[in-house]
Amino acid sequence: MLDSRLSAVADLVRSGTRFADVGTDHAYLPAFLLMGGKIEYAVCSDLRKGPLKNAEETVKKYGVSDKVDLRLSDGLDAYSDGEVNEIAIAGMGGLLISEFIERTEWLRNDDIHLIMQPMTHAEDLRKTLYENGFYINKEIAVKDGDKLYIILSAYFGGISETRTVSECVIGEIYKNTDSVSKEYLESILKKYIVKYEMLKKAGKDYHETESIVKELRQCLK
Ligand SMILES: C[S@@+](CC[C@H](N)C(=O)[O-])C[C@H]1O[C@@H](n2cnc3c(N)ncnc32)[C@H](O)[C@@H]1O
Repeated sequence: MLDSRLSAVADLVRSGTRFADVGTDHAYLPAFLLMGGKIEYAVCSDLRKGPLKNAEETVKKYGVSDKVDLRLSDGLDAYSDGEVNEIAIAGMGGLLISEFIERTEWLRNDDIHLIMQPMTHAEDLRKTLYENGFYINKEIAVKDGDKLYIILSAYFGGISETRTVSECVIGEIYKNTDSVSKEYLESILKKYIVKYEMLKKAGKDYHETESIVKELRQCLK
């Protein structure tokens, strides 16, 4: 029922939590978790009515409608403090996820677990998390076909940190020893090598990019 990307997100969900799936679309993730009994209740929200209709169809099909609250919400705006403590935000850009985190004050609570799968700008999302007092306890790289995805697991620790650009690009993934994590870092390295060469050729400042390349190479040794 779930592809490897959403399966990896599901694996990170703590059992028995009050679960929210933000930007749910088809609601496959909450339906899977409810059917498996990992959670007993889920709020499935989306910005648009069309995706919520998809969600409604899925939860009906799998017989879990009575355990689901389908809700129109921009990010976490239509949630209230204390309602959920396990939050998945998958399949959206890292900048959009960052906006949700910045403007949702009640997320600053150590009981809340955030599981995020940014499609882009993971480095900006890490920066937002670090600066807003969250710590990333785990990152997982997943491969589905020829596509690589990154998943971040984070909690609020209350210590705001300013990390270097390299630290935000590399995150915590360098701690992993599996081959997909290595492949993920290699793909990021390739991207920064291209950027470095373009900046150098254009006569622009390439020093920050050069240091990111160096640190990524160091991680891959
Ligand atoms: C690509 S789908 C991801 C669906 C599912 N979470 C997954 O990972 O497979 C992105 C979903 O996010 C929703 N979305 C986009 N902007 C949003 C926002 N500001 N607040 C809530 N949902 C949003 C879209 O309507 C869409 O249903």
